Amino acid sequence: MAAVAEATTGWWLLLVLSAAELAVAHHPQPPNIVLLLMDDMGWGDLGVNGEPSRETPNLDRMAAEGMLFPNFYSANPLCSPSRAALLTGRLPIRNGFYTSSAHARNAYTPQEIVGGIPDSEHLLPELLKEAGYTSKIVGKWHLGHRPQFHPLRHGFDEWFGSPNCHFGPYDNRAKPNIPVYRDWEMVGRFYEEFPINLKTGEANLTQLYLQEALDFIERQHTRQRPFFLYWAIDATHAPVYASRPFLGTSQRGRYGDAIREIDDSVGKILSHLRGLGLEKNTLVFFTSDNGAALISAPEQGGSNGPFLCGKQTTFEGGMREPAIAWWPGHIAAGQGINFCPGQNVSGVTTHTQEEHTELPLIFHLGRDPGERFPLSFASAEYQDVLDRTTQVVRQHQEALVPGQPQLNVCNQAVMNWAPPGCEKLGKCLTPPESVPEKCSWPH
Ligand SMILES: *[C@@H]1O[C@H](CO)[C@@H](O)[C@H](O)[C@H]1NC(C)=O
Ligand SMILES: *[C@@H]1O[C@H](CO)[C@@H](O)[C@H](O)[C@H]1NC(C)=O
Repeated sequence: MAAVAEATTGWWLLLVLSAAELAVAHHPQPPNIVLLLMDDMGWGDLGVNGEPSRETPNLDRMAAEGMLFPNFYSANPLCSPSRAALLTGRLPIRNGFYTSSAHARNAYTPQEIVGGIPDSEHLLPELLKEAGYTSKIVGKWHLGHRPQFHPLRHGFDEWFGSPNCHFGPYDNRAKPNIPVYRDWEMVGRFYEEFPINLKTGEANLTQLYLQEALDFIERQHTRQRPFFLYWAIDATHAPVYASRPFLGTSQRGRYGDAIREIDDSVGKILSHLRGLGLEKNTLVFFTSDNGAALISAPEQGGSNGPFLCGKQTTFEGGMREPAIAWWPGHIAAGQGINFCPGQNVSGVTTHTQEEHTELPLIFHLGRDPGERFPLSFASAEYQDVLDRTTQVVRQHQEALVPGQPQLNVCNQAVMNWAPPGCEKLGKCLTPPESVPEKCSWPH
């Protein structure tokens, strides 16, 4: 089976660090690193992983141009411990992000938490600082909100975002609204200076976070310094939100709107890197902190594809994450796509898909709906079915009049920009200029 990519958080950290070391040794400037970390996004939310409405064209393209990891795991099925593990390369039980009391799987860092990331932990931005990197966190920190846990005290040089989840609104008496920081200081609070409309799901936060990312990339490019951007956005965490141009545009409800806005933003980040000529020197990695929150589904939660359960469980749905690595010129396109994750039937699910037309594989779907046990070529049953099938195929071929192929030409302008009825809702998007081109079918 070709390239079944297995990875854990620790493995990923290793990859990043060894990439950095390699580059220091052989290139004038070490590669930039952009880590796009989603919040409660499920494995099944990407078109490339089989999401039927296919509303992630940019992420699907990123996977086609890079490497998709179908078997990528977080270290924990909950935000804070998963993030602590991602940034330290150490399991929560080692880095302190766990509890020894009951319901251990629910331990994270709400406003009430006293603890946070210990000074003794070495975070990725601290290590990268030693290699000359400038690091920025955009979005949710979630490793403790008291002063000693501030991200700028743990290796980051810049921050725009919040220390906790965007829950609320609170009354500012029993509970304060969560602050939003720029670097060291708060510049407002959720539901006040940074509104989230719980009724409509409207918030402009993803756009703010996108702008922060684009600006940071551009500034570091001007300075000619290597950078680490940790883009930890949270639109897919309940209460899910999207900005006005994306609200109501998904077939998947409000959660889908959040995904579409994120997908669009990822597309803009990648094209910004290309526009600045940085793509061959920037490793971009996309993943999520834990599986989709099924308790919030369907309107506020995503999909874990075929996997059992979700966030806050250690089943596959809780810990297996969507994951894509992108680094043009360094990571070859279209790698690691395994269309049969978890399946391994010799001669059937192999990546090369052996030639079976001479002696087709035949399954008895009544006895074997999972198509794991092809009928034996030597059996009378096989010969009987093959004879009858061959006759039907021959009749079909003799009578066949082929139509015009409809799937040769693609055009960005014909996508679902303005489906019927969108005017009434004020949700129509303007199509780009019409440019017919040969479709590419990367996978
Ligand atoms: C988002 O930004 C638009 C454009 O500036 C503004 O009209 C809208 O009120 C903002 N929405 C929220 C929820 O902040
Ligand atoms: C899949 O099966 C083949 C033989 O049938 C075996 O060589 C290979 O190691 C298996 N791969 C996995 C990932 O189990």
